[in-house]
Amino acid sequence: MIKGVIFDLDGVLVSTDEMHFKAWKKLAEELGISNFTKDDNKRQKGVSRMDSLEIVLEKGSKSFSDVEKAILADRKNDYYIELLRELNEEAVLPHAVETLNMLRKRGVLIGLGSVSKNTPVILERTGLAPFIDKVSCGFDITRSKPDPEVFLVAAKKLGLANEECLVVEDSAAGVVAAKAANMKSLGVGPENKLLGAEYSSYDLQSEVDWDEILN
Ligand code: BG6
Ligand code: MG
Repeated sequence: MIKGVIFDLDGVLVSTDEMHFKAWKKLAEELGISNFTKDDNKRQKGVSRMDSLEIVLEKGSKSFSDVEKAILADRKNDYYIELLRELNEEAVLPHAVETLNMLRKRGVLIGLGSVSKNTPVILERTGLAPFIDKVSCGFDITRSKPDPEVFLVAAKKLGLANEECLVVEDSAAGVVAAKAANMKSLGVGPENKLLGAEYSSYDLQSEVDWDEILN
């Protein structure tokens, strides 16, 4: 029986994907990489900031030291933080709040499992913080999805066994991470059918049978 649902953040509860894309695109262009596309950006979903940087750099021909890479990742994050200033409750994705409320009413614990180090500020700006029981984010882990660490930490914080948790994800890396954590998953978003999750739906409600999932 499922006693906790662990939500990914970017692309599941909030629409920050376009902001990540704009910030990486700006950095790419400054580095002379003009062919960084939305398809490249899709591969960055769920993976860490440093791994995302590698996806940008592989489109160019220059090589960088670890120190230079850290500076580039910081620069992208500065651009992203600038864009996050505009973030408010309008960025919350359809059905997110009603789903969180419905789960709470059914006695299900709510976890958050995101590798983003901007998780606290995003939860605050969007007003989602009060809906989450326990947060596991980029500050709690050393390994990014597809490693299961972020979900294992979330289950531990919720006080639940791994198999008592369901993960909700919009990235392939996240679904692989859930499987590695021995958790079933619900794939959502435009790519939901391609993610390899046990359940799939465009959003958090339309094709989801929560009764079936929870029991
Ligand atoms: C994930 C995003 O939620 O967070 C990735 O899907 C991003 O695209 C990762 O790279 C790390 O985010 P941040 O905010 O710490 O740079
Ligand atoms: Mg995501």
